[in-house]
Amino acid sequence: MRVHRAESGRLVRREEPVPEPQRGEVLVRVRATSLNYRDLLILDGDHFTNASGALIPLSDAAGEVAAVGEGVTRFATGDRVLNAFHSNWIAGRLPDALVGYGNGRDGWLAEYRAVSEHALVALPDSLTYEQGATLPCAAVTAWTSLAGVRPGDVVLTLGTGGVSLFALQLAKTLGARVVATTSSPEKAAKLTELGADTVIDYRATPEWGKAVLDTTGGRGADRIVEVGGPGTFAQSLVAAGTHHAEIALVGFVGAEGPPVEFMDLFRSGATVRKIWVGSREDTEDLLRQLAVRPIEPVVDSVFAFDDAPAALERFRSRENFGKVVLTSA
Ligand SMILES: NC(=O)c1ccc[n+]([C@@H]2O[C@H](COP(=O)([O-])OP(=O)(O)OC[C@H]3O[C@@H](n4cnc5c(N)ncnc54)[C@H](OP(=O)(O)O)[C@@H]3O)[C@@H](O)[C@H]2O)c1
Repeated sequence: MRVHRAESGRLVRREEPVPEPQRGEVLVRVRATSLNYRDLLILDGDHFTNASGALIPLSDAAGEVAAVGEGVTRFATGDRVLNAFHSNWIAGRLPDALVGYGNGRDGWLAEYRAVSEHALVALPDSLTYEQGATLPCAAVTAWTSLAGVRPGDVVLTLGTGGVSLFALQLAKTLGARVVATTSSPEKAAKLTELGADTVIDYRATPEWGKAVLDTTGGRGADRIVEVGGPGTFAQSLVAAGTHHAEIALVGFVGAEGPPVEFMDLFRSGATVRKIWVGSREDTEDLLRQLAVRPIEPVVDSVFAFDDAPAALERFRSRENFGKVVLTSA
């Protein structure tokens, strides 16, 4: 089978034997995978890596069950599946030790992967493999970031990365009003088409936190899906107003910004909740939500498995609007 391994920041294609599913394992024929910001960080040697050696990258995949090991009860050959982002967080509290795909163990940029049956979720017929492969990291993160959002709430999304686009789409299905930021008029138009109620260009309006207050009558956002980190947090606090908003602390795509003033945080009354994608149960809950309130994942481009380096370049350019997907026919 073909795999790609990350070696010194580059993807190297190799031929390897198809794994044999062990007791309790499922052999997945990978049909599609997708890229996330963390994959770039891992390749660039910038992500908390706890394994050495040339691992197979990527955390997200969808495919079909090619074989099952002894004792497997959850799946049978031919079933359509996607992976849960964390292979060992089924439900409840975060386990003490998490082992990430691509940085702690082999990920999904391979034609076949054998994993525990408990690390997989059934892929509904309503979703293609390409769509399914967009969900494990970005969509589940958006879903857990929005936990508790009520109809009429104002949800603020930042930029047009994978997490933010899913947050916009899911927030609309929850009945929220969405204020979204981006950096170009072209992407602003696409956000509006996707359902954003208000779009703010964060380059043209560096004080976009104030713009969020203005567009909400001075109240601010109820939920902020904070993916920018140091580059956006100070403005997010302005956008939070003073009415005890919740900030889902997701990421750090905005590299630099002013320090966060303690008194600003104190005055806002905001709750800051750290997100760690979600458990398998969160993934299943998201799929249940999609069954009654479907959304179409935004896919920017689809590359053949062998074109993984080109897919990475497309993703790295940040010109994409939506997920960059790889397929294996
Ligand atoms: N904690 C968790 O559980 C978790 C889970 C998933 C992801 N993450 C983290 O969340 C972040 C987003 O991940 P992703 O995969 O969605 O990223 P991504 O797809 O790579 O996002 C890229 C986009 O970020 C936007 N961006 C960059 N700088 C920005 C700024 N200063 N203000 C607003 N937007 C900005 C840009 O949008 P425009 O082109 O529109 O400007 C860019 O296109 C990453 O830091 C990732 O590590 C964390």
